[in-house]
Amino acid sequence: MEDSSFDLELELSSLPREKWWADDYLYQLGGFWFLPQSIEGVIRVNKNFRPLPSDVILASFPKTGTTWLKALLYSIVNPSSKHRLTVENPHSLVPFLEYFDSYGKPPYESTTVVSPDANHCRRIFSTHMPYQLLERTLDSSDCRVVYVTRNPKDTLVSTWHFVNKWEKAREEPWPFEVAVEKFCCGVTPYGPYDDHVMGYRKLSLKRPKNAHFLTYEELKNDPETHVKNLAEFLGCPFEGEDVEGQVREIVKSCSFEVLSSHEVNKSEDVLPGIPLNLTLNSFFRNGVVGGYKDHLSDEIVEKIDALTREKFHSLGFMY
Ligand code: A3P
Repeated sequence: MEDSSFDLELELSSLPREKWWADDYLYQLGGFWFLPQSIEGVIRVNKNFRPLPSDVILASFPKTGTTWLKALLYSIVNPSSKHRLTVENPHSLVPFLEYFDSYGKPPYESTTVVSPDANHCRRIFSTHMPYQLLERTLDSSDCRVVYVTRNPKDTLVSTWHFVNKWEKAREEPWPFEVAVEKFCCGVTPYGPYDDHVMGYRKLSLKRPKNAHFLTYEELKNDPETHVKNLAEFLGCPFEGEDVEGQVREIVKSCSFEVLSSHEVNKSEDVLPGIPLNLTLNSFFRNGVVGGYKDHLSDEIVEKIDALTREKFHSLGFMY
């Protein structure tokens, strides 16, 4: 049952807050920072979401490849409906849990709200929530979690470009130095970045059958292998005569070039449901690895690398 005792005003006023950009604040919950527009959903998911064992949850830090993975997971799980990606934005097909009323009503309220694809019995959700706030929820379920992460420097640069496409930024652009400073001290939506990555990395080491960890860079480097691995992890491996051809087709139809060429993804229309007025085209910029080199000085690169080097190394991967 949904907990209806939630009082946003009360919750917000009791949370630590930090100035993020201009007059906007982020609010801290469980060690992470959230926009006021997402905090109500985050609390509701934390309290009420009970995944089904068949659910697929795509988790990610913002700007690390969520849109790409939504397209890929949707195509892998719903092969007969993958053409929908030519006319719908991946975010319209795979809803964010924390924007709980984005898709009419809380998607997790009832198993009768089957999925973005009503013909299919497997639900795919996504979330930017850190594992630390979902630990109880995910550990008590047999659902599968896919986590995608990305080099922090490209993540930061992508975030900066993304936020500067927001309506508010037309009047008051978000200065790059402020974006760097906030990212480095963790005061960024769903930050700190490193704690977010570490949480899911630990989950994937603890429960490898239930949590699959991959990086944007690995996927770029060898998409075919990773798409096959994802399908196997999700329990729906490619079958039939031309497995390689099926994999190639999904990789191509979800590539940056193909996805971003669809009219829907060039549209300036606002993505319904997410209360941030995000336009459908704002999820596609250039989709390259290492683009940060055009933006960050050696000094900033070293500062960001120092934040993650030791922590990530101790968990067996490196940026
Ligand atoms: P850039 O800003 O570096 O171009 P998210 O989906 O988590 O919001 O991440 C957005 C980033 O992923 C953007 O990166 C965007 O261009 C890139 N992206 C979107 N679709 C992609 C795709 N199909 N393949 C590769 N990158 C993609």
